[in-house]
Amino acid sequence: MERAIDKAMSVDDWITAVLALRKAKRVVVFSGAGMSAESGIPTFRDADGFWEQFPPEEFATWDGLIGKLIAEPRQVARFAWHVIDPIARAEPNAAHRAAAAIEQHTQVTVITQNIDGLHHDAGSSNIWELHGSLLDVINAPERRIVKRFSREDLLAISDAIRGYVQKEQSLVSLIMQLRRHYPFDFRGRHRPNVVLFGDDLAEPDWTYSCREVKSCDVLLSVGTSGSVFPAAFLPGRAELSGATVVSISPTACDGCWLQGNASDVLPRLVKAAWPDANV
Ligand code: APR
Repeated sequence: MERAIDKAMSVDDWITAVLALRKAKRVVVFSGAGMSAESGIPTFRDADGFWEQFPPEEFATWDGLIGKLIAEPRQVARFAWHVIDPIARAEPNAAHRAAAAIEQHTQVTVITQNIDGLHHDAGSSNIWELHGSLLDVINAPERRIVKRFSREDLLAISDAIRGYVQKEQSLVSLIMQLRRHYPFDFRGRHRPNVVLFGDDLAEPDWTYSCREVKSCDVLLSVGTSGSVFPAAFLPGRAELSGATVVSISPTACDGCWLQGNASDVLPRLVKAAWPDANV
């Protein structure tokens, strides 16, 4: 192989992963926040993770957010800004592009826990977004997308929120600015298409993801701590159905584990499986 295998990476795991991927007819890429870490989006549970700054019990449920919005609107704005700004500025990295490149060689489904839309931007065409997407606003009762943001929209929204967070403008002025980009619905039916703790996972994404992992030959679990269920059940379900599960992460994972960053390891793995891959 072009580059020496990292000493920390087990040669057996690497060979297992390459051989399984090379002969796979159906592949699942199951991604978490680590997939987008090198696109500048913070993960949730690493040392400097997002939940360190914004405890999920206060910010990751609709009830928690609404309660905080009434009591401390600027804190909720600060949370929103920290969510939106990195996603607005992000671009797909080599790992997103490698996941998309697999389509040139075999059937692949991306099942992501991320809400950043970067798999779409990288060119993957078969994607299930279990936790929704920050780029979509839905009519919640009808579960209908009412607006799909561009990253420019998100950047304008982020800049407006930053102005309020840094006390450069009032809440009224912020709302007036947001109305230019965000389809407010004063009956409260419109909201970002993201799944918070306690919500049901996005459908039909969850149903189709459960079906796909039972019929795949290889599941590549990239950049996830596997700590949030029911999404975290999927690699185990794939393994029970006979798939080879390969984890890609800097932190130790059970089973076949390729240690390292997604944007380094995934392109090398795809290239090793298909030497003519465009990664
Ligand atoms: N490449 C690959 N993996 C990485 C990288 C990287 N560059 N950087 C960090 N990681 C790994 C971390 O070691 C960790 O195991 O990615 C994982 C990120 O774990 P979490 O922060 O828990 O993110 P995730 O697994 O996606 O969380 C699942 O929890 O809070 C909810 O809705 C949220 O979708 C999220 C879900």
